[in-house]
Amino acid sequence: MRTEQPKMIALSDYRLPDYLIDETHLTFELHESYALVHSRLLMQRNPGLDNSLPPLVLDGQQLELIDIELDGQQLSVIDYKLTENSLQVQPKQRAFELSTTVRIEPQKNTALEGLYKSSGMFCTQCEAEGFRKITYYLDRPDVMSRFTTTIHAQKHSYPILLSNGNPIAEGEDDDGRHWVTWEDPFKKPAYLFAIVAGDLWCVEDTFTTKSGREVVLRMYVEPENLDKCQHGMDSLKKAMRWDEEKYGREYDLDIFMIVAVNDFNMGAMENKGLNIFNSSCVLAKAESATDAAHQRIESIVAHEYFHNWSGNRVTCRDWFQLSLKEGFTVFRDSQFSADMNSAVVKRIEDVAYLRTHQFAEDAGPMAHPVRPEQYMEISNFYTLTIYEKGAEVVRMLHTLLGEETFRKGSDLYFERHDGQAVTCDDFIAAMESASGMDLTQFKRWYSQAGTPQLAVSDSYDAATQTYQLTVKQSCPDTPGQTNKLPFVIPLSMALLNQQGEAMPLQFEDESVAIADERVLSVTAAEQTFTFINVAEQPLPSLLRGFSAPVVLDYDYSRDQLVFLLQHDTDGFNRWEAGQQLSLQVIEEVVGQIYETDEPMMDSRLVAVFTALLEQDDLDPAMLAEIITLPSVGYIIEQYEQADPLAIHQAREYVSDQLAYALKEPMLARYQVLRKESLDTPYVAQASDIARRRLQNILLAYLIRTDDLDILDECVDQFGVADNMTERLAALACLVNSPFTEEAEHALESFSERFEDDPLVMDQWFSVQAAATLPGGLQRVQHLLAHPAFSIKNPNKVRAVIGAFSTQNTPNFHAHDGSGYAFLADKVIELDALNPQIAARIITPLTRWQRYDLHQQELMLAQLKRIKNSGDLSVDLFEVLEKSLSA
Ligand code: TRP
Ligand code: ZN
Repeated sequence: MRTEQPKMIALSDYRLPDYLIDETHLTFELHESYALVHSRLLMQRNPGLDNSLPPLVLDGQQLELIDIELDGQQLSVIDYKLTENSLQVQPKQRAFELSTTVRIEPQKNTALEGLYKSSGMFCTQCEAEGFRKITYYLDRPDVMSRFTTTIHAQKHSYPILLSNGNPIAEGEDDDGRHWVTWEDPFKKPAYLFAIVAGDLWCVEDTFTTKSGREVVLRMYVEPENLDKCQHGMDSLKKAMRWDEEKYGREYDLDIFMIVAVNDFNMGAMENKGLNIFNSSCVLAKAESATDAAHQRIESIVAHEYFHNWSGNRVTCRDWFQLSLKEGFTVFRDSQFSADMNSAVVKRIEDVAYLRTHQFAEDAGPMAHPVRPEQYMEISNFYTLTIYEKGAEVVRMLHTLLGEETFRKGSDLYFERHDGQAVTCDDFIAAMESASGMDLTQFKRWYSQAGTPQLAVSDSYDAATQTYQLTVKQSCPDTPGQTNKLPFVIPLSMALLNQQGEAMPLQFEDESVAIADERVLSVTAAEQTFTFINVAEQPLPSLLRGFSAPVVLDYDYSRDQLVFLLQHDTDGFNRWEAGQQLSLQVIEEVVGQIYETDEPMMDSRLVAVFTALLEQDDLDPAMLAEIITLPSVGYIIEQYEQADPLAIHQAREYVSDQLAYALKEPMLARYQVLRKESLDTPYVAQASDIARRRLQNILLAYLIRTDDLDILDECVDQFGVADNMTERLAALACLVNSPFTEEAEHALESFSERFEDDPLVMDQWFSVQAAATLPGGLQRVQHLLAHPAFSIKNPNKVRAVIGAFSTQNTPNFHAHDGSGYAFLADKVIELDALNPQIAARIITPLTRWQRYDLHQQELMLAQLKRIKNSGDLSVDLFEVLEKSLSA
């Protein structure tokens, strides 16, 4: 816990490190109640700096210093200075050796940062600043060192001892202990360091790189999970091949290891040669993991693997550059997933996620640029803006440069900076060199926060066959930033004729039409684009493929949206037209709810969905996406001040209306799909995933009609499914239905069957925590008391507390404030155990300004209560401070 007032770390304060660490030799002695860490650092004065020898200040937290030697001489207490976060020593020459021994207590580490114990094994999480909880060090990414690591532990409980690089020696100690030494030939910053010690089993495979080297691939898991490794291993091999083909990147060590751990703050970590995964992000088999989980695993395994180049070989100079590795790597993993599955569906999923969550962040109190200028706690900056908006920025570069030039730029970036710690500017400079483009203005995407708004208007002159598009861009103020300058916005577009065909596009200064889809480069606050030889009044299809992370505002009528939904040749925009149409319809019902008990829904939505359901050549994946209404979270973001209860009610009303109106064609289609699922063994591949997705969405509509035959179908699907995708979807239908007896029965049989599988129990928890029927808070309180729940396990916290506060709109936003008070209680409880999780789980409360005044007051009261609850972590302090001063 904090004793001093936390201070801001600023990018403008960046200085080169005074000292470098050429070699790092670590020895761990792991015991049941403590661990000893011996470190021997070969250091030198940074040769890029002057000849003076300033004091050496090492980072260190929660360490008990046992011994310290400088060039072989033991130091006494007068030779060094210890503070809560540092160890200061005075070097006597430019090159020297510093050795320390510290004692730490991994068993008591509930923050899951540094060295800790999870389900009987030791593991580490060092990014961003966890290494300083293991030993005294220069814990910053621009200090890169060659590591040798020896681990000693009791052999019976910890037969497997792992670290980065290659194993080079092993042996036995006395008393049933043993040791292994690992050597990593690549220089790396401390945040990429890892060790693991445990009774782990492994699945092994090999991969031959394009230059013919054989790499051993191992997944280490607890023995009961050996049958959940195949999908992760397949994903890894696909990712390795893809990175060779798409980016020319080859793996560089002889061994690549993945370890699955149950207690983990985030999804996974790209430690050099030894990736550590949250077990939920790597373990899967048909019976226990959904399609969504299979796809998430494929992309996260790829993401961490891709970091070997975008992150490890070329790393970040400082943490302000975090998006350099994360934005680029998310872009790379999204390209990979698009190639492995349906590209349009992947784009739809990514955009829906970005617009619901990142746009909300960018409009809230924590808004920050892709390259932030300051932070108190870096863990709070592993955000949707750094990851998802950062990936959109790289994607725009890809669009502006084109595939081939972008590849030249990335080759140049890797070649220029291999083995270095660099900045976002270096990345852009490589793209500039490869393309000859000046990206100075483009770089505003890195420095200006907030989501730009694009207001588009148009006019058509039939006499001259001229069509004009006028684009105005603006960007709202964000904390600490006003009066933003124009961005470079790639605006992909087409003009559709009355048959829905894209017309040839010719600018006024061109002699011929070049294409029927073009990317307009919007660079000014206001700009007009003039097209000539436009034969008829067109309907514009704008921001195709969501070519920039902006809010598009063009005044489409509902009939025009219906037309685009039926005809747009861009799959993404087709879906988008449906979303905007559904949104308008729901918003209209929200308005009616205040005035009357009987809202009237626009019948055009039913008509167009009916037509789409009857159209046999429509890809089931697209149909599934189209008939999925915008999420409550996304709808809330459309209001200045939202009434979450009315929005939930309106969305429910529209869903019910669709269900009753479309019951017949939906049921017919459901039955066909269900039969196919019964006749095909489970495979996690795109076409089967699309079928199950459509089938499950239809079932969720159908159960709304309270028809007992449909209830039977649902109970049947729940009972006989050979896979978790169908089983869990049916369970969710029952749990949200008025058929409480059937729901209880299903929940019971589910937990009996899967009680020994924590990852399945997470799903059982979250389906219930998200159930929107009245009485949700009591049900959640009940879940917290369940023996399978543990507040120390982040996956359980997310499954119960997270699902309740982000998915259970009517119960979380209950009028009496009980949902908010509950979350505040849990935040306070968690902060004492795991500050990173506390600072994340509080997010819904920090968005208080988005809601009606009544809700605002209730939320603010809880934020203040948390603030006054005692000693807070820096993590939570920073979030509270920002959200209360907004
Ligand atoms: N670098 C990791 C990734 O994106 C992120 C990460 C994993 C992380 N564990 C963490 C960040 C703990 C902060 C704290 O792949
Ligand atoms: Zn990452």
